[in-house]
Parts: sequence; C-alpha cells; structure tokens
Amino acid sequence: MTDASDLLEQARQAAAASYSPYSKFRVGAVVVTADGTVFAGCNVENAAYGSSVCAEVTAITTAVASGARSISTVAVTCLEDDECFPCGNCLQVMREFGVERLITEKGEYTLEELLPYSFGPESLA
Ligand code: THU
Repeated sequence: MTDASDLLEQARQAAAASYSPYSKFRVGAVVVTADGTVFAGCNVENAAYGSSVCAEVTAITTAVASGARSISTVAVTCLEDDECFPCGNCLQVMREFGVERLITEKGEYTLEELLPYSFGPESLA
C-alpha cells in the first residue's frame, strides 16, 4: 500500500524499532522505489554520537543495497514529535536518488521545496 496514510503508518511501525537510547527520539521512515517496492528504516544511534544514522538514511541505504537506484517517495515520522522534518543530511541523501515526494505528519512536500538550489549527481557531470 503506497498512499500517504498507509506509508505514514508503515513509518510509525518502523519507528517502533528505533535504537535511540541517547536521544529517546524514535524516528521511522519508508521509501518507495521506482518499481513500487517499499523499504523501511529507523534511526540507529551509537555511543559515539557521530556514528548515529538517521531513519531516512537507513531506509534509503537498505533500498540501494537491494538494487534500487531511483526512489520516488519518502515518508518520515517521529513518535515523540509529530512536526518532525528530515534533517539537511537526509534531504541531501534523498536528492541523490531522485526523491520527489516527501510525506510527513504535517503534510506533503516536494524535495524541491525543502532543498532548493541543491547539489546533485548532474552537478558533477
Ligand atoms: N533523526 C532522524 O532519524 N532523521 C532526521 O531527519 C533527523 C534526526 C534522528 C537522529 C537521532 O537519532 C535522533 O533523531 C535525534 O536527533
């Protein structure tokens, strides 16, 4: 199921697996690839804080590791904050794989709205 409310519900379920003993901020994300496959991820923290990984990056890297190279949609949620938006690093990772549609608990956005004037693969062409 890939409509917005279904994707958010899947993101909430992914957030339940969050490993976030330091921030206690449970984030979940799901991504939809070009062929419609859905991959989920959660944030995975580390005692060395800088080694922590965001939920969106976990979901995207899982999709890429399965062979995906084009991702159309990302849905992200946080169980502690229903106004959660992706961080700048996550937006940049989304940019790499062509994400267009971003679903949050606050509504839907385009990546272009949240990351205008961005740097991407074609910048190096
Ligand atoms: N976090 C995400 O998973 N995604 C974001 O876009 C922003 C922040 C996580 C990282 C860390 O585990 C926790 O939220 C608090 O920053």
